[in-house]
Amino acid sequence: MATSYDYPAFFHPEQSPLWLASVLAALGRPGPAPDSAICEIGCGQGFGLCLLAAANPGRQFIGIDLSGAAIAQARHRARAADLQNIDFICADIRDSAALPDQDFGIILNHGMLSWVEPPAREALFAFIGTHLAAGGVAQTQYMSAPGGEAFRPFRQLFQTLAGRADPVADGLALLRQLRDGGAGFFQLHPHASQTLDNLLREPAGYVAQEYLSPAFDPLPFASLADYATRHGLEFVGSATPMENIDAISLPEGLKSAIAASADDLILTETLKDLVRNQAARYDLWQRPAAALAPQDHMRALADMWWGLLPAAPKLDAASKALAFPTRIGTIEGDPAIFRPLLDRLGEGPARFDQLMELAVFDKRPGLLNQVLQMGLHARILHPVQGFDTPEAAARLNRHLLAEAKAGLEIPALAAPPLGSGLVVAGGDLQTLAAGTAPAWLRGLFALGST
Ligand SMILES: C[S@@+](CC[C@H](N)C(=O)[O-])C[C@H]1O[C@@H](n2cnc3c(N)ncnc32)[C@H](O)[C@@H]1O
Repeated sequence: MATSYDYPAFFHPEQSPLWLASVLAALGRPGPAPDSAICEIGCGQGFGLCLLAAANPGRQFIGIDLSGAAIAQARHRARAADLQNIDFICADIRDSAALPDQDFGIILNHGMLSWVEPPAREALFAFIGTHLAAGGVAQTQYMSAPGGEAFRPFRQLFQTLAGRADPVADGLALLRQLRDGGAGFFQLHPHASQTLDNLLREPAGYVAQEYLSPAFDPLPFASLADYATRHGLEFVGSATPMENIDAISLPEGLKSAIAASADDLILTETLKDLVRNQAARYDLWQRPAAALAPQDHMRALADMWWGLLPAAPKLDAASKALAFPTRIGTIEGDPAIFRPLLDRLGEGPARFDQLMELAVFDKRPGLLNQVLQMGLHARILHPVQGFDTPEAAARLNRHLLAEAKAGLEIPALAAPPLGSGLVVAGGDLQTLAAGTAPAWLRGLFALGST
């Protein structure tokens, strides 16, 4: 009998409303209303959306997916945690009559566009064009050209094996045999070996979605921009913060060549994708609107609170530069800039305008803005919010800890202070479940009284 593969649970921090608000503020763009509704098209088993709903109880969430099995799993988890602010709809994005008729401040779509046929892409952008509220933002994550093109041969191999009982296991075994035996493809594409190692670690359902879906299209930015423009949307930047900062995300020798095309968005993004050999894009789309006026831009930045994430390093006078891996190599973060910032945030969350009082940022809001975005990108800093109703997060997290104990893979827990989810190491899952985790960790996950 042929194996059936379930897509695993994932959490993508770039989908959280505070992450998106901070990126938009950094870009000087208007953002969605703080309490606006959030919709994810192609939500799969809804793991990420449940985390976001539990961490943001004041917002309404709707997840949509055509897979009945995935929606059943999503509803089961939401019910088990008694989440009151989330609904799941089993529908095809092409079936407009089955979709909710309301506006959303945030519309999310991750891992779908490159694996569906053009009519579904068209329908997704039609939905966004119709239902994105003023000031709202849509985020589409997709496999992009040219970086994704190198993996067509993987796709070809898995397709050839599609009739077998377990094409994923057989395909991975063959690829590993080819790689280890010195096959020319891997010699010409050394990074494919790294990808193969990643695939060998991923659940089979991830590999199946990647290489056995009806389509496999590493999409050029130009094609997405065409859908978006026809539906009244404009590109405003990337949800991957580092990629909005040309000064550090492009090689020195190519900056002027790319700057020369600045008045042609599609050419600029196409060049950047070549420079970064971009394999995945996290595009942000909005309705055309003027950028924030300078004083409004400053206010949007100044109002934001920031805090340290558990992964933040401790820097001392002897610390070397912080390393930020990017598509063009490792970028160094000057410890003379990061140390005072991390020290200050080590005392507790602070507002942007309070951080501006650190001597290193004196009259340099642009530098602070850039450094905070680098910290967000590196998962060491995050915007934080006040919250007074952590019960939903506590219920969901307790349920997830029980799932973890029963052997399920739990990639993250809900963290209400971040309005997001946060990856938790296996050991921390155990101490949280046992109630022996340190108080600050229990507080982060609303498990104070467990
Ligand atoms: C790779 S999964 C991503 C799940 C989730 N967004 C995540 O990142 O973990 C893509 C999802 O898109 C859904 N999908 C594909 N085509 C669709 C369509 N036409 N309408 C609605 N959902 C669709 C699939 O059923 C699948 O659950």
